[in-house]
Amino acid sequence: MCGIIGYVGRQPAAPILLGGLRRLEYRGYDSAGLALQAPSGRLTAIRAVGKVMHLTAKVTAELAGTPEVAAPVGIAHTRWATHGAPTEPNAHPHFSGDRRLCLVHNGIIENYRAIRARLEAKGHAFVSETDTEALARLIGEHYQGDLRKAVGQALAQVEGAYGIAVIAVDEPGVMVVARKGSPLVLGLGEGETLVASDAAALVAHTRRVIYLDDGDIAVVTADRVDIRDRHDVVREREVAELGLDPGAVEKGGYAHFMLKEIHEQPESVRNALRGRLDAEHGTAVLAGMGTSARELAEIQRIILVGCGTSLHAGQVGEFAFEDWADLNAEVQPAAEFRYRNPLVGSRDLVLAVSQSGETADTLAAVREAKVKGALVLGVVNVVGSTIARETGQGVFIHAGPEISVASTKAFTGQVAVLLLMALRLGRGRRLSLERGRAVAAELARLPELIGQVLAQNDAIAAVAGRMATAEHAYFLGRGPMHPVALEGALKLKEISYVHAEGYHAAEMKHGPIALLTPGTPVIVLANRSPQWDKVWSNAEECKARGARIIAVVSAGQVGGEQADERIVIPDCDPLVATIPAAVALQLLAYHVARLRGCSIDQPRNLAKSVTVE
Ligand code: F6R
Repeated sequence: MCGIIGYVGRQPAAPILLGGLRRLEYRGYDSAGLALQAPSGRLTAIRAVGKVMHLTAKVTAELAGTPEVAAPVGIAHTRWATHGAPTEPNAHPHFSGDRRLCLVHNGIIENYRAIRARLEAKGHAFVSETDTEALARLIGEHYQGDLRKAVGQALAQVEGAYGIAVIAVDEPGVMVVARKGSPLVLGLGEGETLVASDAAALVAHTRRVIYLDDGDIAVVTADRVDIRDRHDVVREREVAELGLDPGAVEKGGYAHFMLKEIHEQPESVRNALRGRLDAEHGTAVLAGMGTSARELAEIQRIILVGCGTSLHAGQVGEFAFEDWADLNAEVQPAAEFRYRNPLVGSRDLVLAVSQSGETADTLAAVREAKVKGALVLGVVNVVGSTIARETGQGVFIHAGPEISVASTKAFTGQVAVLLLMALRLGRGRRLSLERGRAVAAELARLPELIGQVLAQNDAIAAVAGRMATAEHAYFLGRGPMHPVALEGALKLKEISYVHAEGYHAAEMKHGPIALLTPGTPVIVLANRSPQWDKVWSNAEECKARGARIIAVVSAGQVGGEQADERIVIPDCDPLVATIPAAVALQLLAYHVARLRGCSIDQPRNLAKSVTVE
């Protein structure tokens, strides 16, 4: 969602903060701002509406020739509006009433109205509509020369989620940071310390990081960090080594991060599979499942929770758990899980599927499932994220940083890991050695199968060219291709703003078919599968109403020749085929969005990780 970066060191802070904001821009980007602290303690804030480049231009113009150019301390923020429109007054940093301290904040202060009313009654004149300003002013009310203490006292009165970084005029060279429900990571450099809401903002400066825990408050200077937990007890937190490659957060010659990430999938899926396939025994070796073979064998039901694209990955997983592992599996939108009082117990395995590992709804579902005594595992991309740490066990997808807001390689990594889990659980149950070996061999082919889809980029771009002016599109699939259809529609609507819907192919005739008009593109996932002929009849029903059928078919498949367009994916196991099919639909969405001139990596209204309910 929003992004935070802070710096305390000896170099000029402004370029470091602006560079960090650019790396965080994918998280939220309707406005941005920074505050610099001169060695005297004086604070200077600059804010701008729009992308980080607008802030950069403003900072360059306003700081030229001023001593602030060299200010060695600062905090910065890129905002995705929650409370109040994206305007300059609403952009961070926000100041205390006496303007002697300021802060940047991720998350939501749920009781900000009450705090604001109380402060207004005391004479505070708020200048923004944000919840954050209430927190800044509250800290200011408590401040009596000890910033850490004031932050602690103010946060004790706050309900909600926060990751904050605060600096004060009276404490030059000191930054106080705190988190609860919103990630913060400290970066330890030589004579400099950074803080960020996302490790991607730190890679250019250091690899040594400390992930703060919920409830932590840290006092950060250039040479040390002093962390106290929620009980005010001093803590030595583990220093972790960041595995990120700085190049992974650059576009590397591609026009967009999304295109780069689509093309990274042979490698990212290889990373998800690396060392995890046991061809001889026809199974998967998943150390992160941590649980004993006996415990795994006793699992009676799998509940997959996630949001958006991750929910779709879970829906593919559901089919694999049923088909390969003979397990009763169900998918629940994470946002619904804790409110429906789920029937979950100790023999249920809850899988939290999340790229970022920070999605508020998925995190809440994890906590609820743990309270109910279920075994909870994460299927997460970001190592060190809250869900990864709170589940304590699970299987990382190792997709590398995903910068484009629209998820691509994380989705295929999630599906790959869920297929591995299904294979592992299946082999512990009734899946035969022979079938296990066949599945393992198919999974091992995935990087090559994805490569074959990517090789058709130009052909898919041509199909996109013929549907780029359509205002509506429908995606149909059955079985495990139904969630792929949902995902294809989501990708298209997110980045091209074309109205797109995914339906179970058989459902079309029960209502949605009324929407078809001559030429409406209907993308039908009609690859080789036991249900192929059924899917094809559903496609014919649409064609008879004048729809333009774009069929995704398997290489060498007989049938479906009547389609108006064909996108060919390699022939493989129908569950494994969900991944190459998804890649084809990602490319289709990408090219439609490109042809429509959309802001592909940063679509309107969206943010990368959604840390609010
Ligand atoms: C869409 C997309 C979102 C996320 C959803 C959950 O392209 O990326 O739908 O999948 O916000 O996010 P994570 O996976 O981080 O929990």
